[in-house]
Amino acid sequence: MNRDLRKTVIAGNWKMNMLASDVETFASGLTSLISGFKSWCDVVICTPFVNLPAAAEAFKGSDVGVGAQNMSQFESGAYTGEVSTAQLSDVGTEYVIIGHSERRQYFGETDKSVNEKLVACLKSPLVPIVCVGETLSERETGITFDLVAMQVKAALFSVSASDMRRTIIAYEPVWAIGTGKTATPEDAQEVCKAIRKVIEGLYDKATADAVTIQYGGSMNDKNAKELLAQPDIDGGLIGGASLKPDSFAVIVNAANQ
Ligand code: 13P
Repeated sequence: MNRDLRKTVIAGNWKMNMLASDVETFASGLTSLISGFKSWCDVVICTPFVNLPAAAEAFKGSDVGVGAQNMSQFESGAYTGEVSTAQLSDVGTEYVIIGHSERRQYFGETDKSVNEKLVACLKSPLVPIVCVGETLSERETGITFDLVAMQVKAALFSVSASDMRRTIIAYEPVWAIGTGKTATPEDAQEVCKAIRKVIEGLYDKATADAVTIQYGGSMNDKNAKELLAQPDIDGGLIGGASLKPDSFAVIVNAANQ
C-alpha cells in the first residue's frame, strides 16, 4: 500500500451467498469491529443484486460502501435478466465488480464485454472494480504477465486518464480463488507492480501511481497483513473471509499499517 499516492480499498465479495435478512446482523457486527477505518481505508461489501437495498439501508451512515457483483453494459431496454447502472445507483449502490473470473468462466464474459461494461460504468457515478488474473495452466505455461497485461489493456480500451484514476483493478489469480491457496506476497506484488507498469505505459506515471490495485484470492485474517504490506497491493477483494464480520474486520484492521 502507499496511502500517500492512492486509496486503500478493502472489498468483500459475497458471491451468491447470504440472504437479505442476514445483512443487518452482519452490518452491525462489522461496524462495531472496525471503528475509525475511514482514516486508513475504504470498505465495501458487494452483495447479490437482491440484497443491495437491504445492504444500503443497513450500512447507511456507517461509511461502508455497498457494491454489486455485475452490471449490464446496456443503458435500458429489452435485456431480460440484466441490471443497469442507473438501477444500481437508484438503490444506493456505489461500486460494481466487473469481469470477475467466475463471470468469465461460467457466464461467457470476455475481454470485450468487460471493456463495454467498464465504459458504461464510467458514464455513471459507480466506482468500477475490474478483475483480471491468470488460470493455473496459464501460470504454469509462464504467460501470467503477458496475459494479465492483455486483460488490463483490453479492459481499458478507450478509457480516459481521469476515468482510469477512479477505476480499481483487482488482480485475482484464478487458481487462488476459493482454494485456500494464496499467491505469496512477493508473487502477488510482482503482478500488481506489472499491472501498474502497464497502466503507466497506457497513460503516465502519475496516473498509474494514483490507481488502486487490489489482490484477491484466498485473502484472509491470517495472510492479509503481509499481502497489504506490499507496496503495489492497495487492498483486497475478499470472498470467503468476507462472509463473517470477525474475519472481514481483521482484514480491514490489517490495512491500518
Ligand atoms: P476467495 O477469497 O473466497 O478466494 O474469493 C476471492 C474472490 O474471488 C473475490 O472476488
